[in-house]
Amino acid sequence: MDDTRHPANAATAADYRLGVGGVMLREAWYYALPAKALKRGRMLHRTLLGEPVLIGRAADDQVFAMRDTCPHQGTLLSKGKFDGREVACPYHGWRFATDGRCTSIPSQTADQKPQPQDIRATTYAVAERQGNIWVFMGTAETSMPPVPEVPSIGHRLQLHVSMTFACNIDLAVAGLMDPAHGAFVHRSALWRKEGSIHEKHKAFSPLPLSEGLGWRMDRHRASRNSRAYRLFLGGSPETEISYRLPSVRIEHARTAKYNYCGLTACTPVDADRTEVHHAMYWDVPGGALLRAIMRPFARRFLDQDRRAVMAMVEGLAFDPPTMLVQDADAQTRWYYRLKREALTAQAEGRPPRNPIAPVTLRWRS
Ligand code: FES
Ligand SMILES: [Fe+2]
Repeated sequence: MDDTRHPANAATAADYRLGVGGVMLREAWYYALPAKALKRGRMLHRTLLGEPVLIGRAADDQVFAMRDTCPHQGTLLSKGKFDGREVACPYHGWRFATDGRCTSIPSQTADQKPQPQDIRATTYAVAERQGNIWVFMGTAETSMPPVPEVPSIGHRLQLHVSMTFACNIDLAVAGLMDPAHGAFVHRSALWRKEGSIHEKHKAFSPLPLSEGLGWRMDRHRASRNSRAYRLFLGGSPETEISYRLPSVRIEHARTAKYNYCGLTACTPVDADRTEVHHAMYWDVPGGALLRAIMRPFARRFLDQDRRAVMAMVEGLAFDPPTMLVQDADAQTRWYYRLKREALTAQAEGRPPRNPIAPVTLRWRS
């Protein structure tokens, strides 16, 4: 049945309040950090989905990731030394190759157990794509979904901004995909004014499963209150926006001359904190100067979203009754529905099905 035709009722609200709230979906790629932040021969600590992860770049430029706790006594390996080939634990000097093999246990005599070949550090699959480093949080490496990529100008990463939202991943995601907050949260003379709100009709379709579990707002002419796009790209841009689990929104705007792509990805640090990454690509000429101009805008924009979500988090702490309306909240509903389907499919050991049918949504924004 067409999900969006349901009246906004208590059952639907319950879906989003209770159904999958805050669960950190596994078997998925998560944005870890921009590739530029990881120099050759260096390693960093990240907490992803509540797990300590060491991410490093070896002398041969390959990125790797392993669980950031020493198999011996749990010390953070990232506090140790890395010579570009092996990580050495700071406590008793056990050494690990980038594929997790233990290569040395200094305290052991030749006849004692364990020997290095008996020990392995847990590793994670990583991918470096289009200037981003992704970590696969899961075990089913044979059936990994594709690494998220922006279309056509993936070699033109210009800017990355990130911010931590003090909330679970669901509230961060819902806050970013919501289509009706622009005029209120991002109010500005350049961007949007409340008075510019008008009715919109947008066609949506499910993403092919080969691209992940998600949907797409089909290519359309950018709305007349998207002034920033117009200024930036010149002419009259067309946009397409896709969303796929667990948390990746990709927007592509283009005119006859130029392209802009934005990739937004939410990565849970843990159940109550979410890192929101925004990577921006464009082929508009302007180099470092344009980046310098865009950076404060991008940060301000993301911070506006953050503050809006924080105000919602504060309200939700009182456990108020809430509702989802049609059609402005349809995407929020889809998000929870797809997440529930992903969790059910994982529990049942079957591939997920996409329950979204092509539909045109109408709302005012
Ligand atoms: S805790 Fe790492 S070597 Fe002992
Ligand atoms: Fe926003």
